[in-house]
Formats: sequence, structure tokens, C-alpha cells
Amino acid sequence: MRLEDDERALLDGARGRAARKAMEILVALGDIYGAEAMVPVSSVQVSGVSFHNLGEAGLEWLEEMAEDGRAAVLATLNPAGMDLERWAELGVDEAFAREQLRVVEAYGRMGIATTCTCTPYLVGNLPAPAEHVAWAESSAVAYANTALGARTNREGGPSALAAALTGRTPAYGLHLDGPRAPVVEVRLEAAPAGTAAWGALGCALGRALGPRVPLLTGAPRPTLPELKALGAAVVTFGGSPLVHIEGVTPEAERYPRPRESLALDEAALEEAAASLDDGGEAVDMVCLGCPHASLEELWTIARHLDGRKVALPTWICTARPTAEAAARLGLVERIEASGARVVCDTCFVVAPLDAAGKTVATDSAKGCYYGRGHNRLRVRLGEVERCLEAAVRGRWS
Ligand code: F3S
Repeated sequence: MRLEDDERALLDGARGRAARKAMEILVALGDIYGAEAMVPVSSVQVSGVSFHNLGEAGLEWLEEMAEDGRAAVLATLNPAGMDLERWAELGVDEAFAREQLRVVEAYGRMGIATTCTCTPYLVGNLPAPAEHVAWAESSAVAYANTALGARTNREGGPSALAAALTGRTPAYGLHLDGPRAPVVEVRLEAAPAGTAAWGALGCALGRALGPRVPLLTGAPRPTLPELKALGAAVVTFGGSPLVHIEGVTPEAERYPRPRESLALDEAALEEAAASLDDGGEAVDMVCLGCPHASLEELWTIARHLDGRKVALPTWICTARPTAEAAARLGLVERIEASGARVVCDTCFVVAPLDAAGKTVATDSAKGCYYGRGHNRLRVRLGEVERCLEAAVRGRWS
């Protein structure tokens, strides 16, 4: 792999031990994927934050990197295993909280913005089209490639941290033109509306195509929450973190139209949605904001809950900076007056919920998949309004 002088200097330890280790990780990764060179990145989204997943060994590694590692570019952080301020109120164990705070502090010492969100693009980490970035968190990676036209592979925790400490990533995969070209046209013969419907579309796309890059034609113009939902679902179900959507993805028209094509109709989307829904009237909890809710979504939720009370624990997950803006608009107060909670820094998938066998209602296809897997929940998938109705009535209807 060809290295520039400053990259070789990092590898020789000119900027300390952590930067050297980071460069070693990137070179090894580049060798595995046949990268010819590194590419500078303008921002990084770092994953590997929940102490639940990291464990003591992961935390020790981070604290070692934090001794002399410092971010070389803008870097933001994925969700943690708890709300960093209201953890006690949400029933998080004190021993877990202590370790979780150590994780976040270690990232903070490295100069990484402790945003603790899966929607970095909503809190100021917003790359321009064609900009190279190195993001972890699959839903954000899909959003960056698909909605913003930025270029990123799907980084893991160590490779994203390495990119943050060096400002480099190996130039392979979705950083290059060739692998970004769509290979299958998917003609959408349906008109999904709402985040649950777009999540079902992402699920159907991922299952039908696997990692092949699609060009989606015939789709209605998605809203920002719908694009978030699509990106989160498509990768969860094995799909490519780049879906060219005609008229939406900045570079969608740049490549030759694929020769292969297939159609997805209403029945295919209904089948995908049904596969994510465990049925039944009983609901024990409602969770919205996966990926983390935007200000606009909080606005919609506040309007729906005005003057009403929820009968079930209801989490609206969002980024702390988004919640702070929402608080200034009075939205957090309006939502919480209903008994629902605006939960920051985490979500019902990343937080170690002690709710095995309980039923959670959500609008998120990704949330259904991981809720079943990580926290052994039963799930009901529905649009936001339907989930909020379940929260108010105490049952699915
Ligand atoms: Fe974000 Fe948690 Fe969903 S990290 S994408 S809210 S599973």
C-alpha cells in the first residue's frame, strides 16, 4: 500500500502511540481489501460505545488509546448504553453506569464529540456530496451514502476510531466510483408512506438484493425520517449501505442504468412488514426514535400527545443536542406532560433492557430486528401515530 510521507510518519510513531496503533489498523485493513492508498476523511462517526457490548477489555483498550490519542478531524459518537444524565431515573444499574461513563469520558479525552447519537447528520456532522468520511453505525452510513452522496464504507469500532485519530481511511469499496455504480434497477410498484412503510421497503430490498447496489426507481419522494428508516432497515437486512434513489441520491443519475431489473410491489412490502410484526393486542412498551428522532419528528409526536396521557412506558429516543433544541421549543415539556419520556444518548436496542418476552411497539424495522435479537422482545411494527395510540390506549388497535 502506498503511503504519503505524513502517513508513514504516523506509522513510525511521530504523533505518539495511539496514532501509530491507529495507522497500523488502517494499513492492515487496506491490505485485506486491496486498497492502493489512503484517502483523507473530513469526518468520522465512531461506534463501540455501549459498555454492554464493549466489556472491561474494550474499555481498557479505549483508556489506553486515550492516553495520547487525539482526534485529527471532526468525530462524533454513537449511542451509549444509557441516558448519560437520567440513567438512574430510567432504572440503570449503578455499577453499569459507572463503567459507561468511563467509556464516554475516554472518548471525550480523545477530542471526540460525545454526541452519543446514531444521527450525526442531525447534530452538525453533515458531509457534502462526494466528501470522503469514515462512519460506523450502519444506519448513518446508509444515510451518508444514499441521502447525502458522501462516501463511506461501513466502519467497525476500531477502524472508525483509527480514522478519527489519523484523519485517514483506506481507499477501497464505497470510496471508489466502481463499487458505487448500481448493478440492479428496482422498480417500485408501490407508494410507501411513513417510517414503518419505508423500513419495510428497506427490509424487502436488503433481503432481495443482499450487498448489490440498487437503483430505486418509481419511488415517491421520501421525507428525512423516511430516508432514515430506509437506510437503517436496508443494512440491517443484509443490503447495501448505498441505495441510489432516482431524484434523491445526488449521484443517482451519474452511472449507466443497470441492465438487470426487478420489481417490488405492494404485496412484497406488506410481506416484509408482516415478517417484522409478532401480532397480538398486548403491548408493554412503546419506543420511537430509531434512528434517533429529528426535531421534526419530536414536533409531530408532541402534537399527537398534547393533552393526552400514555398508559404504557413510552420512550422517544433522540440525540441530546436535538433534545436541547426541542426543549427550547417547549416540545420536551409537551411530550413529557403525557408521561412519555424523551430519552437521550441511547435507545431501546443499545440499552440493556430487562424486558425479555415483553412486547414493544415501534415504527422501526431495524428496531424490530434488533429488539427481537438483543433484548429478546416481541415486537409490533406500525406507523408513529399507531404506536402513540397504543401508548395512550395501552393496547394495539
Ligand atoms: Fe440508532 Fe439504536 Fe436504532 S443506535 S438506529 S436508535 S437501534
